[in-house]
Amino acid sequence: MEKKVKRIGVLTSGGDAPGMNAAVRAVVRAASNQGIGCIGIRRGWNGLINSDFIPMKSSTVSHIINKGGTLLYTARSAEFMEPAGREKALNTCRLLGLDGIVAIGGDGTFKGALALSRQAAEANLSIRVVGIPATIDNDIGCSHYTIGFDSACNTAIECIDKLRDTMQSHERCSVVEVMGRHAGHLALYVGISVGATAVLIPEREPNFEHDIVDKIRRARLAGTTHYMIVVAEGAGSATDISRQIHEELGIDPRVTVLGHIQRGGAPSARDRETASRMGFEAVRVLLEGEGNSVIGIQDGHLVDIEMEEALKMTKSFQMDRYKILEALTNNCGPDF
Ligand code: F6P
Repeated sequence: MEKKVKRIGVLTSGGDAPGMNAAVRAVVRAASNQGIGCIGIRRGWNGLINSDFIPMKSSTVSHIINKGGTLLYTARSAEFMEPAGREKALNTCRLLGLDGIVAIGGDGTFKGALALSRQAAEANLSIRVVGIPATIDNDIGCSHYTIGFDSACNTAIECIDKLRDTMQSHERCSVVEVMGRHAGHLALYVGISVGATAVLIPEREPNFEHDIVDKIRRARLAGTTHYMIVVAEGAGSATDISRQIHEELGIDPRVTVLGHIQRGGAPSARDRETASRMGFEAVRVLLEGEGNSVIGIQDGHLVDIEMEEALKMTKSFQMDRYKILEALTNNCGPDF
């Protein structure tokens, strides 16, 4: 039977996430297992514009499943958002004989993928693109989970556990800002997992008095002498929140912005396994002659969602988790 694709390009784009390497490995190995050639496109979509690539074979991806970052480098490409940039990219596809691309990244990566597949169709070029969601923000609508989220949560938790030791000794308040861009998933998971006094997330209308001040007061009443406030970067700056706490409660919080440390480090078991499954599935989809879609995970199962549809999907706020957070951190119940 004639194979539907002959040569696949693989790239990582947007903010890096632990597990991207594991996804690249899975794509290369799954393709090689089927006798399909694989080219690594470097520095995201820019690599396709600038013909920046490396041939990949099984051994190229040895010993990277455990590594953070991405061996293919990553970038956000403004040029690729323009038709002229994508025309250059299509020329690289012609040059390399690519008929399938696996793009590992977030929403911006998939928008680029959709635009490329449309421009390719207009040019009568058969190139199918499959997206794999990888971002520590877990903000991709079509997938309950994105590669990197678990590792980033674990990193943030480890840092906050350490902070707690010193906050406890000094009986202080700590305000920790975590990443997440416009989403509060990371802050919510981390907040639950570290037993935060309060968590601020962008999905909820801010109410400083209820969200922070009341909670610190209640914790104080319950006998707690240190307070851990987790702020999603999309909900405000830790410095501003800290200033407000000082003005309102007369305490002097310490501010920590975790920043890019959350994007580094070895991927967790969940991220390695998810990346391996998604990479394998992306190649399967291309081999079937399908594509122009995003691989997602819904209720633990892999799904393959048409790219345009996938980009329209939004992720609803996890109110159930927020309620759990509220119930567990509201440690001043009827006993008081
Ligand atoms: O999307 C991943 C992410 O780490 C966000 O959480 C954050 O807002 C952003 O990227 C930071 O981007 P940069 O690496 O360009 O500073």
